[in-house]
Amino acid sequence: MTIHIGAEKGDIAETVLLPGDPYRAKWAAETFLDNPRMVNEVRGMLGFTGTWNGHPVTIQGSGMGMPSLSIYANELIRDYNAKTLIRIGSCGGMQPHVGIRDVILAMTASTLSTPSRGIFKELNFAPCADWGLLHAAFIAAEGKGTKTHVGGIYSSDVFYDERPDLNEQMTRHGILGVEMEAAELYNLAARHSVRALAVLTVSDHLQTGEALPAKDRERSFGDMVDIALTAAFS
Ligand code: HPA
Repeated sequence: MTIHIGAEKGDIAETVLLPGDPYRAKWAAETFLDNPRMVNEVRGMLGFTGTWNGHPVTIQGSGMGMPSLSIYANELIRDYNAKTLIRIGSCGGMQPHVGIRDVILAMTASTLSTPSRGIFKELNFAPCADWGLLHAAFIAAEGKGTKTHVGGIYSSDVFYDERPDLNEQMTRHGILGVEMEAAELYNLAARHSVRALAVLTVSDHLQTGEALPAKDRERSFGDMVDIALTAAFS
């Protein structure tokens, strides 16, 4: 047990999928894993462990934003020995050619700040995905026929953004989408020599104002889980 995760040591698999929403962790575990069992419910941040094609997998909610994800990722890596961590989540599209329902594989994650700022100080560290996972996820996504983009994303600290000029600069610099967790996951993976990737579904678009209808969310989310699991064990 750790401060935020109630699981016993052996209850967490080396491969962990991290949706922001704990109920999505439940849905994904019940839909994709064999014999899923709940291993965490501390603070309602549900986590489940089961198997996928015989491989042990944990699906653990991370909460929203980098401070929350940082708590779970730190404990999963440092106390439970997680070696492959894949965020599965939604993002806002930031380029005209990136459409609703498309998948973005985040090669890099730009930020204003992360919980790691205290270490980096004046240094602009460049958080990036694990290449092997990124490559495998791209092949898996192509195989499914999912429209997929690979490139930089922006991990913001705010959903309700009072600085539209920053989004404009991100768009101008080719950033594909905005979410709130990946950069810190990549920082922690680099620090602890583990593998990380963020697989994101575009749920809304900052330029068009379009949003994924509620009835389509489950299907799009499922594609992402499938891509993440295939990549983890490729
Ligand atoms: N901003 C930040 N995070 C998000 C968004 C957004 O527009 N959409 C999904 N996650």
